[in-house]
Amino acid sequence: MSLWDGRFKEKLNIMFEHFNKSLKTDVLLIEQDVTLSKAWSYVLYTIGIFKKTEQLKIEQELTNILTKAIKASVNLKKSNSEDIHTWVEYKLTKVLGSIGKKIHTGRSRNDQVTTDTKLWCIKEICLIIPILNTLQKRIVALSEKHIESIMPGYTHLQKAQPITFAHWCLAYNEMLLRDKLRIDDTLKRTSINPLGSGSISGTAYNIDREQLAKWLSFNTATSNSLDSISDRDYLIELIATATISIIHLSRLSEDLIFYNTEEANLVELTDKITSGSSLMPQKKNPDALELIKGKVGKIQGALTNIITILKGLPLAYNKDMQESKAAILDTITTWKECLHITKLIIINIKIRLKACILKAKQGYSNATELADYLVNKGIPFRKAHNITGKVVIKGIAIKTPIEELSIKTLAKINPIINKDVYRFLKVGSCIIKRSSKGGVSKSQTILAILVNKKLLTVSDSIYRTNNLIPDSIVGLAFQLNKNLWENHLEL
Ligand code: ARG
Repeated sequence: MSLWDGRFKEKLNIMFEHFNKSLKTDVLLIEQDVTLSKAWSYVLYTIGIFKKTEQLKIEQELTNILTKAIKASVNLKKSNSEDIHTWVEYKLTKVLGSIGKKIHTGRSRNDQVTTDTKLWCIKEICLIIPILNTLQKRIVALSEKHIESIMPGYTHLQKAQPITFAHWCLAYNEMLLRDKLRIDDTLKRTSINPLGSGSISGTAYNIDREQLAKWLSFNTATSNSLDSISDRDYLIELIATATISIIHLSRLSEDLIFYNTEEANLVELTDKITSGSSLMPQKKNPDALELIKGKVGKIQGALTNIITILKGLPLAYNKDMQESKAAILDTITTWKECLHITKLIIINIKIRLKACILKAKQGYSNATELADYLVNKGIPFRKAHNITGKVVIKGIAIKTPIEELSIKTLAKINPIINKDVYRFLKVGSCIIKRSSKGGVSKSQTILAILVNKKLLTVSDSIYRTNNLIPDSIVGLAFQLNKNLWENHLEL
C-alpha cells in the first residue's frame, strides 16, 4: 500500500518502485525524522488535532521505532517504503492505527525531507568542529616543539628562504582555522527551520512556526515556504566547505610526501601509516598521505554532483533532489576520515633536525640577506639584487655557499661588502630578522602559538568538545525545550 493509493488504479512497476526509492540512503535521517515527528505531534496537540494522551502515545511509539531501528532489529532494506519519512509513518500507523494516521496533518514530505537533512547537517557540523579542533591542537603542539627547528622553505619546489618547522605547522593551522570559520558560517544558514512550509505554499493549520523552530533547536523559522522547500544552498555550502578543507589536507599531504622522500629527507613517517611493497622489500610508501590526496576526487565530485542536480531546477520540490543525500553522506564520511588520518600522521611524524638545518643552508637561500645587507648600506634594492645575483653565480662556479666566499672574492664583486656581512649570512639571522607580524621569527612564532591556543580554548568551550553527545544533540534539545515550554504553558 502506498501513501497515495486513493488516486491510483494500477500498481507500481516493480523496477520503477526500486528506482524511485531513497530508503537505502536516507535511513541515515532516521533519528532526525523521529525527532521531527515528535515535535510535529506536539504542534498538532497545540492546535487540538491530538489529545494529550494521543500525543504522548505518538511520542512513545516514535521512541520505540528509533530504539528498534538502532538495535537493528528491523530490516529497513526489506521494506517497500519509498523513503524514511514514509517508513516512520507506516510503522507508527501499524501500531497506533487511526492515531498514527493523523501525524501527517498539515505537513508534507517536502518540508520533512529538507528539515531532516538540515538537522542531520547540523549534527554532523557539531561533530566535525571538535575533530578539526583536535587536529589543530595537535598541529599547534607540534609547532611548539619546533619553534627553533630550521628547515628549507620552498617556492616552485626550489629552496627559497629558511623557515622553521613551527612556521610550516602554523601555516596549516591557519587553513584549518579558516575551514572552521567557514563551517560555522554555514551553520548559521543551516539553522533555519523549513518545517511548517507544507508542500509548497505553507501549512493551512494555525501553528507557531517560531516555537517549532526552537523545539527542534533551530535558531529561527524560514520566511518563504516556496524557498524553504526548494532551498538546498546549505548542502552546496557544506560540500564546498568540505572541498576547501580536503584541499588543505591534500596540500599538507603533498608537502609531507616530498619532505619524506630520500631526496629531501626532512621528515620520517612511522610504520603505522605507511605500507610496503609486495615485491620490493626496501619500500616504505606514504600511502596515508597519497590516499588523502586521492579522496579529494570524491568530495570534489560530490560538489559537482549537487551543483548539477540543482542547476536549472524549477521551484519548488523536484524528485531530482532525492539524489542529493548520497552526495552529502559520502562527503561527510570521507571528510571525517581524512581529518582523523591527518591527525594520526601529525602525531607520529618525526622531524630530521640535522638534515633540515643542513638543507636550509643550501641552495643560496641566504641570498636575500645579502641583498638586504647592501640595501642597509644605501644601495637601491634592484641594484643590490643584481650584485647578489653575481655573487651567486660566482658561488655556483666555485661550488661554495655565499657565507664561505672570502671577503676578497665578495669585495671584488662590490667593494661596499666588508667583513660585517658574515653575521647577516648566518641561517639564524634569516629567521630572527623576520619579526614583523606573521614572520618566521621566534618572537612571532611564540605569539602565534599563544593566540592560537587561546582561540582553540574558546572554540572548545563553544562547541563543548569534551562532553558533546552529538548523536542525540537534536533529540536532547527537543526534550529540553519541550519541558521548558510545558512548564510555562497550560494547555
Ligand atoms: N523521497 C523524497 C526525497 O527524499 C521525499 C520527498 C517526496 N516528495 C514528493 N513530492 N514526492 O526527496
